[in-house]
Amino acid sequence: MGLMAKVLRKESLERYLQQDQRLAKTLTAKDLIALGVGAVIGTGIFILPGTIAALHSGPAITISFMIAAVVCAIAAMCYAEFSSALPVAGSAYSYGNIIFGELVGWLLGWALFLEYMLSVAAVSTGWAAYFVSFIEGFGIQIPRAMTGPFDPAHGTYVNLFAMLIVGLIALLLMRGTRSSTRINNMMVLIKLGVVLLFIGVGIFYVKPANWHPFMPFGVSGVFKGASLVFFAYLGFDCVSASAAEVKDPQKNLPIGIIGTLIICTVLYILVAFVLTGMVPYRKLDVANPVTFALQVVHQNWFAGLISFGALAGMFTMMLTMTYSSSRLIYSIGRDGLLPKAFGKVTAKHQTPTNSIKIVTMIIMLLGGFVSLDQLTNLVNIGTLVAFFWMSIGVIPLRKRKDIPNKNGFKVPFYPVLPLISGALCLLMMFELPRVTWIAATIWFVIGLVVYFTYGIFNSRLNNN
Ligand code: ALA
Repeated sequence: MGLMAKVLRKESLERYLQQDQRLAKTLTAKDLIALGVGAVIGTGIFILPGTIAALHSGPAITISFMIAAVVCAIAAMCYAEFSSALPVAGSAYSYGNIIFGELVGWLLGWALFLEYMLSVAAVSTGWAAYFVSFIEGFGIQIPRAMTGPFDPAHGTYVNLFAMLIVGLIALLLMRGTRSSTRINNMMVLIKLGVVLLFIGVGIFYVKPANWHPFMPFGVSGVFKGASLVFFAYLGFDCVSASAAEVKDPQKNLPIGIIGTLIICTVLYILVAFVLTGMVPYRKLDVANPVTFALQVVHQNWFAGLISFGALAGMFTMMLTMTYSSSRLIYSIGRDGLLPKAFGKVTAKHQTPTNSIKIVTMIIMLLGGFVSLDQLTNLVNIGTLVAFFWMSIGVIPLRKRKDIPNKNGFKVPFYPVLPLISGALCLLMMFELPRVTWIAATIWFVIGLVVYFTYGIFNSRLNNN
């Protein structure tokens, strides 16, 4: 087989479906929305609206949230069509393998890996910020050197609590403690509860004067903000990753994906609206803006309660995403594109321990030493790459006569909407800073090296 034929060879839907048969099909649309909201709402609502309003968008951050929501909504429809036509585990990694062939599939897996790992690292720094302010509320002082990324100029060297929380999550996952649907649903309710509480209490302290000037950084600030708050919406693709375990996937997956996005969009816009109305945007560049705003209006009791809920909420986000990233490495290992050792499941706890260990080490180093801003930028570019391919991928997907999706979800205004979605993803990518592009290029070049020195020779498709 020639090189071109190898990189373009495609996985068959039947083989994936056959492999996934052993998974029980139990998830309903409600479970999927809970899973989606669980994975999506994290640092993006508890931290980003403050820092991004202060530094990039001002009160017009609400518009930034709306723009990012539009981009995500169209991409979400493309994901919904993919997941309804190809209800297999592995999300974009598997879709890419079936539609574009092995190389694109691998690179999409590599992009998802970046998204999942870095988003956990980013949320771990958000979690640590809330945790430090929470315990400081009890009069316990933590040395500043241990509370931030490696940045001697600002007196911080390591983010100790970010590293510890990721380690704790790995221990839980290695013991086989999967976040069961019931616990997850409960935690999601707590998370929604605190967000609604913030909106309900905060709205009484809004001073419309704080919304003037509305666009202090101009239109470009609003778009820059949109490319950054995009992070807040990430995670809904986790819903499609669980496709193999869904009851009636053609109906429930689109409801799960689009329902998640609608709930999150409404909440984000309301939180941003209330937050920038309570406190002048310039003051919001703090590590825990939501509780900070409540402290400013002397609602310390609510501030404490919300810190606690935010900690619980970010915790579940990290648990779900770490689980997903270890599962992703596991499936890539199973397909032979990474050493089989990654795909190994321990007999005792039925968990892919090796992949959890690797993922955890990388996340701990990133969360411990890199700043939240740099992390979110990189997550965004990795995800936008995946969204871009999923958007334009709808076109070859529809052309495949061997993949029937008669009664499933279809993106409206085909092929215009998928093309617009692809173009919007590219536009958002160009909003991201140069250094993010350089870092992402390095990441994908490493991915190519791994594929051409290992994956291509060990792929299971070599046995066909
Ligand atoms: N959407 C996730 C968050 O905001 C990544 O934390």
